[in-house]
Amino acid sequence: MMKFWMAPGGLHIEPAETRDAKDLARIHGQSFFRGWPTGDFAAFLGDAASPAYIACDSRRRIAGFALIRLAADEAELLTIAVDPKWRGKGLGRALMEAGFADLMLSPARRMFLEVDEQNLAAIRLYKRLGFEAISTRKGYYPRPDGSAATALVMARDLG
Ligand SMILES: CC(C)(COP(=O)(O)OP(=O)(O)OC[C@H]1O[C@@H](n2cnc3c(N)ncnc32)[C@H](O)[C@@H]1OP(=O)(O)O)[C@@H](O)C(=O)NCCC(=O)NCCS
Repeated sequence: MMKFWMAPGGLHIEPAETRDAKDLARIHGQSFFRGWPTGDFAAFLGDAASPAYIACDSRRRIAGFALIRLAADEAELLTIAVDPKWRGKGLGRALMEAGFADLMLSPARRMFLEVDEQNLAAIRLYKRLGFEAISTRKGYYPRPDGSAATALVMARDLG
């Protein structure tokens, strides 16, 4: 089955493949204080239990991605990042909605995520998509100055 969802800016969403690992590591590294190595992305992308989606053009130039992990009837958003040049155009939302649509075919019935409580752009995106805060995790995210930020745990029913 060919999976393909339309996205803003003339882009589309499709499942990520192992060959995308380097691009995902680059975009992730632009977006977070602690990047993840390409090898970690390659491992996730080779594993059916961690589906990922890319927003890209017809030449597969990648503007953003979302990475999810499945375990029994739960899904966890491991990370989502959009290239800074492409933010604010609806790609984050389109990536999440493609994931929700695709997970309708999986046993996952609820999605969880953690987000830095100070990351207002991401929290606003998640709330618009129906996520609610269910708890907090203190000291979860390391900061460049050595302090640590509190994470908000959010959840949303699927399907
Ligand atoms: C969070 C992120 C993925 C959003 O991607 P995006 O493509 O810019 O988001 P969208 O354009 O789809 O925006 C969707 C909604 O998110 C919210 N949002 C996005 N950017 C925002 C900003 N800078 N300030 C406030 N709200 C914002 C808005 O509610 C927006 O919907 P609206 O415009 O209809 O109100 C992107 O900002 C990013 O890559 N950030 C760095 C990595 C990160 O923080 N990831 C989340 C970690 S848990």
